[in-house]
Amino acid sequence: MPIIFDSEKKIFKLDTNESSYVFGVNDHGLMIHYYYGATVGDSDLAYLAARWGLSGVQAKPHYSVAGDMLNLGTKPLEYSTFGVADYRPTALKIKAASGQSATNLAYISHKIYKGKPDVEGMPETHAAENEAETLEVLACDEVTGAYVTLFYTVFENLPVITRHCIVENRSEKAMNLEAVYSTNVDLQGDFDFIHLWGRPCFERTFEREPIGHGSKTVQGLRGASSHFHNPFVALARPNACEDFGEVYGFNLVYSGNFAATAYRDSFEGLRFIMGINHEDFNWLLEPGEKFVAPEAVMVYSDKGIGHMSRTFHKLYSKHLCKSEWMTKKRPILINNWEGTYFKFDADKLCAIAEKASTLGVELFVLDDGWFGARNHDRAGLGDWKVNEEKLGCTMGELAKRINSFGMKFGLWFEPEMVNPDSDLYRAHPDWVVHIDGRPMSVGRNQLILDFSRKEVRDYIFDSMCEVLDNANIEYVKWDYNRNFTEVGSAALPPERQKETLHRYMLGLYEFLDKFIERYPHILLEGCSSGGGRFDPAMLYYSPQFWTSDCSDAAERLFIQHGTSMCYPTATMGAHVSAVPNHQTKRITSFETRGNVALSGTFGYELDATKFTDEECEAVKKQCEEYHKLYDVIHYGELYRLITPFDGDRTAYAWEFVSEDKNEALLTYVLLYSRPRVRRTVCLKGLDPNKTYRDEETGRTYKGSTLMNAGLNFIGFEGDYNSKKVHFKAID
Ligand code: GLA
Repeated sequence: MPIIFDSEKKIFKLDTNESSYVFGVNDHGLMIHYYYGATVGDSDLAYLAARWGLSGVQAKPHYSVAGDMLNLGTKPLEYSTFGVADYRPTALKIKAASGQSATNLAYISHKIYKGKPDVEGMPETHAAENEAETLEVLACDEVTGAYVTLFYTVFENLPVITRHCIVENRSEKAMNLEAVYSTNVDLQGDFDFIHLWGRPCFERTFEREPIGHGSKTVQGLRGASSHFHNPFVALARPNACEDFGEVYGFNLVYSGNFAATAYRDSFEGLRFIMGINHEDFNWLLEPGEKFVAPEAVMVYSDKGIGHMSRTFHKLYSKHLCKSEWMTKKRPILINNWEGTYFKFDADKLCAIAEKASTLGVELFVLDDGWFGARNHDRAGLGDWKVNEEKLGCTMGELAKRINSFGMKFGLWFEPEMVNPDSDLYRAHPDWVVHIDGRPMSVGRNQLILDFSRKEVRDYIFDSMCEVLDNANIEYVKWDYNRNFTEVGSAALPPERQKETLHRYMLGLYEFLDKFIERYPHILLEGCSSGGGRFDPAMLYYSPQFWTSDCSDAAERLFIQHGTSMCYPTATMGAHVSAVPNHQTKRITSFETRGNVALSGTFGYELDATKFTDEECEAVKKQCEEYHKLYDVIHYGELYRLITPFDGDRTAYAWEFVSEDKNEALLTYVLLYSRPRVRRTVCLKGLDPNKTYRDEETGRTYKGSTLMNAGLNFIGFEGDYNSKKVHFKAID
């Protein structure tokens, strides 16, 4: 039984296959957190929450009695509330009709059942009845009449617990939700904070730092999960590394403003909260209404960062994306963006597609510039009418021509945006996110359509359908190229203006749900000026996401490394582009560009008509390799072997191992060549007793030899040189 309740002691114990999570209800109805970590045999862990009581500067809550050592400020709490003697960052803050914000929750009841409930209106992980069990705990704040349901779903075969909550106003008066975080975990002791920071063209960069006393927060206030901070954090014990030690991973299934705060208190307690950012957020909850907070995923690993990542990968590969494409083989694509930018017509596009098709490419994607007056990025967004004059034909005809090369055809959209210079904006200036009387900032010459409004969503949906229903389009790239400023909605009253950003996200999710339902066979690839909205919520709709606008192979190693912390290989759009690279001007070999891009959803982003004969041969070889190595890369487990943060700081090496351990692929990239360096790489995750054959040389090794003694990459000098070694078990 993954969830048990000790009714006598009022203790809940949630067991995954590798972890235990224990909390209880004390005599005052307060929910106290006892333990989260590796599996333990006992459930009565209340003794762990004992703390020294404090007097004087530290307040005691009204119901504490002298000597009971109950002191909210030092107790590990299950879901903390603001303004009642807990001075740490808190998960829930409700402003009552009286204007005061003190909030307190007391346990009322609970339910335990098989399966996993929906997170209403929002993306979520899913599980069949026999794959998970759920605990719902109902608690209430007597003063405001707010009823809070905390949901915990325990996955039986993965060390994963998901959490979300619902706040319901069962009083007669309106209340304001000022903060509703999705998860709160109170741990104890020393931790490092691992997070993924970045910027456009340098997304999700791995960073690890010790947590000192006070707060460490990563957050987004841009209305999108963003290039700058991903809604992912891991708390790692200082001695934890890639392969050993305790790591707690957290990921929010949400694409809007988020915050994740770790707070180390003066008693060496460590609180972690993650959810919608309370900054610039307020939700007016009328009597009878409810508010649903997004889902937070919690992964526990006592086998290091690598095991945490592989757990996220398994969860997201099987329990997140609702597209049929998550498990279908992805086609090798070519996208015309870096090949032509806005300068093309149907003949040029067909020339690229035809050439690529002869080399093994399976899908041609027409990027930005095919609609309205879109010959540059200053006009046309929002006008989803095919520019037949520019193309020289209809979209249906273009799709037919592409199909005649034996290729699928795909199209770019940026549905949430509008250029001021567009027919749509001229007709509906109030449809954009704005504040009356305040000048609007533009980003890439565009404004954001107010997707919190149904009429706006319906208009865009219908105009997209018009295009999609009149051509054989089998792939859509959904882009999003600016963040929010001057946030306001013309459709909301003043007291609801701070709901705009969350209502926008709900509108976006509703749109995407409808889109997937109407076009279940379309392969949807997410994008946001590269990877500016690469989060589990977008991956619920789009099985692949354009990882970064930086297509330089060397830079991509850092980006794909950080992204792999929690997102599976099969979700990372990765393309071979031309050199000198358009973003960095770096020159890397065609082979290395291919080796890096093969560790993602593979494709090309260039003008194929410019290929030399040698490059044509290289493309053919890469396409063949893609098919040969597809299963081990897309369904295998990822092991990170070396990074430029290790050793002599010059190389990356990673490995995929099939589930049955019969196949492995190692890729090694030398970033910076130094003479006389010993370059030994040990593999991981193999069966020590099996014999593996190097498919190129025929040489055989025992798994134990490859893992303990390793391979020698000597004689391999040259910046950006790379090598793949493919092993198959022969016994
Ligand atoms: C964004 C995307 C690119 C490309 C352009 C088109 O920058 O990240 O891949 O689609 O928009 O304008």
